Formats: sequence, C-alpha cells, structure tokens
Amino acid sequence: KKISLTGIKPTGMPHFGNFFGAINPALELTEKYQARYFIADYHALNTVKKPQEMIDHTYAVAATWLACGLDPQDALIYRQSDVPETHELATFLMAFTAKSMMNKAHAYKARVQDNQASEKDADIGVNMGLYTYPVLMAADILLYNTNIVPVGRDQKQHVEITADIAQSINHNYGEEILVIPEAIISESCDIIIGTDGRKMSKSYNNTIPLFQAPKKMRKQIMKVTTNSQEIEEAKDPETCNVFSLYKLFANQEEQDALAARYRAGGLGWGHAKQELYESVERKFSPMREKYDALIEDRELLDKILKEGGEKARTIASSTISRIRKAAGFPC
Ligand code: TYM
Repeated sequence: KKISLTGIKPTGMPHFGNFFGAINPALELTEKYQARYFIADYHALNTVKKPQEMIDHTYAVAATWLACGLDPQDALIYRQSDVPETHELATFLMAFTAKSMMNKAHAYKARVQDNQASEKDADIGVNMGLYTYPVLMAADILLYNTNIVPVGRDQKQHVEITADIAQSINHNYGEEILVIPEAIISESCDIIIGTDGRKMSKSYNNTIPLFQAPKKMRKQIMKVTTNSQEIEEAKDPETCNVFSLYKLFANQEEQDALAARYRAGGLGWGHAKQELYESVERKFSPMREKYDALIEDRELLDKILKEGGEKARTIASSTISRIRKAAGFPC
C-alpha cells in the first residue's frame, strides 16, 4: 500500500476548513492507503506560547481525528513532538534548502506583506520557526516515506517545496533515499470560506469550530455575513456565503431546493442560516457526542498517542539511518 500522511496544528479548535480541507479527505484514504496522521505541535509553537493552550488544543485535535472516524487500528495517529527524529531530518534538509525558497514561502511572505502594508519593518513578528516552517514540514512528510499528502489549497506550496528538497537530496547522493510526495487537494473543498467570506482561518478570526454546543454553533452561523437584501427580494445563491457553506452539507437535491427558494424571493437571511444550521447539526451532532466523551478521557487519548508515537518512531528511525549512511555519518 502507498502512504498517505497529513498533519493539523493544535492552534485552536479544529474548524470546518480543517474538516473539509483535510480531515475528511484524509479519512477517506485510510482504506486504500497506509495512513499516518499527526498533530503538528512544533508547528503550533510558532504562535502558541501558553503551555495550557498547547495541552488543551493537542487533546482537541486528537479527539477530533478520532471522533471524525479515525480508527487507530487502521491509521497511525501521533504527536509530532513524540518523534525527535523529525529534527534530525530537518537538519539534513536545511543543508539542501535554498534560502531564496524560504523567502517565497506563503506563510512568511504573507506576514511580510501585511507588515509592509501597515508600514512596519518587514520582519516584525517573524520568528525563525515561521521562516523555516516549510523545512520542518518537509521533515514531517519525508520521514515517513509519504506518497500523498491530503491538504487544503493553502498547503500545496509546502508540499511542492518538500518535493524539491527531496529531489535535490536524491540527486546529490545519486540514489532514491527519500520518497517524492505529492499533494492531494479535493476540488470542491480546496478553500472553505469563514463567517466573513474570506478563507476560514484562525488568524482571520472567522472560523466555525466543528464541535461546540448547539446554541453556540447556531450563534456562529448567524454571524455569517450576507448582503442587505430584504426578505421578499430574489437572491443569488452562487454569491452567498451561507449557500457556499450549505453546499458542503447538502446533497444535490437539497442544494437545488434551497437555491430555488433563494431565487423565488421570500427567503430571509435568517431562514437560510437556519437551514444551514440544521444541516450542520445533522452532520456533526453524532460526531460531537463522540468528541465530548473522548475529550473527557485524557488517559485514553494519551494511550493512543503514545502507542502511535512509538510506531511512528520506528519508521522514522529507519529513514534517519538511510540518510545518515548516504551522507557519510556513522549509523
Ligand atoms: P493547519 O493546522 O493550518 O490546517 C490543517 C489542514 O486544514 C486545511 N485547511 C483548510 N482547507 C480548506 N479551507 C480552509 N479554509 C482551510 N483551513 C485549513 C489545511 O490546508 C491543512 O491541510 N502546515 C500544516 C500542518 C502540517 C502538515 C505537515 C500538513 C505540518 N506538517 C505535514 C501536512 C503534512 C498547517 O498549518 O495546517
């Protein structure tokens, strides 16, 4: 079987973007592929500086994977920080990574552009973790002989950088030491929008967390921005944030039915949002029950993560031996 791998940062509660962009596509691959899914806590460290937040968010991501259907018997689930080999590989990769490539990496470039737009020094608020982010991510991927990486569109460039670095290592040593990975991006879910219509992202403060009490979920959905058309006016579903979220939850027949109500007029924004809320609840409430039970059972989560981490290390150390040997290091 080929290998599928992806990671999620514990920077907050996993949201719709994480679910539709990565978790759901990744779980659909667990039958055909050998799946390795992890919690990218070292990546989160760039922004999460409070230990209690790190702990809580790590459990939240672990419980989310499991509540969404990850079965630890079929798929490996582990914490990035349980595999110190990640850093050793990252050090090897550094020596094959052009600085110019880091200058072009999205996350860093976006931060520089934001700084420049507000007339600040370009590198304000940029730590070395953010600058070298793609190298650590490449280590995550290359350590496990990954063939495919199911991710949202925002991560595509990182996987391309990973492939570039791996190629230059293989080329230098003249053998296939690292497997060249490829990003898999689901077409209909490549960029999920948030409550304000921009890409759903914790840094834009526009996320809808997957698992929260129904009342809170309803409140969040009522916050989705719409235009100021009156109830009786005919509305265009294709330009509406509520409808674009609804599409993620509804089958074609349900989408056509709601689209017809938009076009007929008489459907207010409150009604459209209520439809969205009900479809969200139908999909997520069974998973939320599982999540609520799991999040209380930290002993179980610890056990699952520990076992996953041990298995992950075994795979990781064989990659490390391979690269040490190729590079002329004792092994
Ligand atoms: P993170 O934690 O920001 O996001 C986790 C996954 O969710 C996807 N995603 C989205 N997809 C569609 N629409 C959105 N609005 C949206 N928001 C988030 C992301 O594309 C991602 O797939 N660098 C990664 C974590 C990581 C990783 C890795 C991933 C570290 N090492 C190795 C794959 C392989 C990140 O920041 O994800």
